[in-house]
Amino acid sequence: MMKFRLLQAHEPLPMELLLEADPSERLVRAYCAAGWCMIAEREGSVIGVYVLLALSNTTVEIKNLVVAESFRSRGYGRQFLQRALTEAMHRGFQFVEIGTGNSSLDQLALYQKCGFRIHAIDSDFFKRNYPEPIFENGIECRDMIRLRYTVSS
Ligand SMILES: CC(C)(COP(=O)(O)OP(=O)(O)OC[C@H]1O[C@@H](n2cnc3c(N)ncnc32)[C@H](O)[C@@H]1OP(=O)(O)O)[C@@H](O)C(=O)NCCC(=O)NCCS
Repeated sequence: MMKFRLLQAHEPLPMELLLEADPSERLVRAYCAAGWCMIAEREGSVIGVYVLLALSNTTVEIKNLVVAESFRSRGYGRQFLQRALTEAMHRGFQFVEIGTGNSSLDQLALYQKCGFRIHAIDSDFFKRNYPEPIFENGIECRDMIRLRYTVSS
């Protein structure tokens, strides 16, 4: 059985997992400190994480979403996203945003399947914020594609 819980301030961050979704430890620490870090546990071990950060009174961002490698492609990613959307609704937000790289094709598919729509592009975000070039699917990751989900009332 899998259970989600809010990571408490005194607990260490599951940094190895968080870095799989975002290679900047500096950014990860900053948004985990300011937001809600939710961990998914199964038989005592952490199998995934998502982090919510309020951007305004109406909008919350999913800053990090990761499923441990050995648990991928079993529907957990979709389940985590749905859990994050429900939580955002309960916390009273109207919009949920998520950003991903132009090269993250599986993630772009997953987010759109879950009802997110492309909302904006932050050109050269990855070039500005990450010192090393990132390649996925043979594509250089340069721009952040921002997607938004509208919570129905
Ligand atoms: C992105 C991530 C969270 C998805 O988690 P997951 O548990 O593998 O996802 P799911 O099993 O729920 O799959 C959801 C969708 O993703 C896509 N997908 C997942 N595995 C795939 C694979 N091996 N090949 C192609 N598409 C795949 C499919 O579109 C699938 O849709 P479907 O449910 O209609 O089949 C996971 O791969 C991960 O942690 N990646 C590393 C961290 C990361 O990149 N995070 C996002 C940063 S923006």
